[in-house]
Amino acid sequence: MVAINGERSHPNGATSSRKADHLRINLEEDVAAKGVSTGFDAYRFMHCALPDIDLDEVSTATEVLGWQLASPLFISCMTGGTEQAARINMVLAETAAELGIALGLGSARVLLERPEALPSFAVREIAPTVPLLANLGAVQLNLGVSSGDCARLVDMLGADALVLHLNALQEALQPEGDTCFAGLLGRIETVAASLAVPVIVKEVGWGISADLVTGLLDAGVAAVDVAGAGGTSWSEVERHRLGGPAAGTAAAFAGWGIPTAVALTQARTAAPDGVIFASGGVRSGLDVAVASALGADLVGVAGPFLRAAAFGTQACVNLGREWFDVLRIAMFCTGSRDLPSLRSSARLVREDGGPVPGADGVTLVASLIETISDLRGTQVTRTAARG
Ligand SMILES: Cc1cc2nc3c(=O)[nH]c(=O)nc-3n(C[C@H](O)[C@H](O)[C@H](O)COP(=O)(O)O)c2cc1C
Repeated sequence: MVAINGERSHPNGATSSRKADHLRINLEEDVAAKGVSTGFDAYRFMHCALPDIDLDEVSTATEVLGWQLASPLFISCMTGGTEQAARINMVLAETAAELGIALGLGSARVLLERPEALPSFAVREIAPTVPLLANLGAVQLNLGVSSGDCARLVDMLGADALVLHLNALQEALQPEGDTCFAGLLGRIETVAASLAVPVIVKEVGWGISADLVTGLLDAGVAAVDVAGAGGTSWSEVERHRLGGPAAGTAAAFAGWGIPTAVALTQARTAAPDGVIFASGGVRSGLDVAVASALGADLVGVAGPFLRAAAFGTQACVNLGREWFDVLRIAMFCTGSRDLPSLRSSARLVREDGGPVPGADGVTLVASLIETISDLRGTQVTRTAARG
């Protein structure tokens, strides 16, 4: 098992200390969202008893942003900046290289403060051909980080894209948080226009609503990861980290956020041709299949890969391979030869018989009404169930 526990703080900086705490808490505590689920369970595939294809013909390969990938699955942005993070990133990079999938690195903000932390992110040589995603909190653009700094970070990491994360709630819960979000969209637009690599925007587990997805795509962002609720909850992580009255404030948000499947369907309906990723609470190969069928171009996973990484590369690769197989077999049993056929398949149905977002206007309007009432229903009924 990779040694990751025991480092509670780092002598060289507050950001590293927070990152070490985040790793430890994610590995040792229950950080799952409570009172909200991803919404993937609302869907199931109508089994095809007689697929008109051979299993061997099924391909999970995809091309996104010019990248050739073996599967829509990718490892979402997590860590960097500490010794433990370096070991985790090495395992994740070996996994991504072995599986042929994209890999997100954790926030590179620490590199702006302590360039000597670079080795904890430096995985390019381990995974020379996979798309490598650099990451930074978008709010840093309001705190003096320039387009030039972003370009420098991308360059230092040998990254293929820059992911800017939106984490307003997390920052609001942190006593030391950066909460000056006003005017950020314009700055994101400036960075997107100036970088030589694609800029992707993601949340961290509370979802991005359809109006913002279209706003971000209109601003020149290459892809949006809706990163919805139902998986790792950063208010729960902060609850464990903070203690005292601040922990009570954080606890109030355990069920906050737009369920991932709801955020995804709304985003896909609002931006039929946009590049949209889904992540947040993806916990099985079937979740990957449902998200792909609902229109996700890529499907990201963080927490499960972190927990597997603690057991080393083989455990991580095994997790990925199992999910690949589940996706492939689900495609076979819906008669879907490739991901575009899965996406256009009529075999994805809602458990409650409601509409699955489709191309025609009636379905589109109905699905919007449905997803809005879903959102309300999920929050209200689950809160009631807890009480
Ligand atoms: C240990 C850990 C560290 C993370 N650090 C970052 C980060 O630096 N930047 C970021 O955009 N997201 C970060 N995330 C959030 C994930 O990318 C993802 O959005 C979130 O965990 C929800 O996905 P999950 O339910 O599969 O874990 C982190 C997640 C974990 C588990």
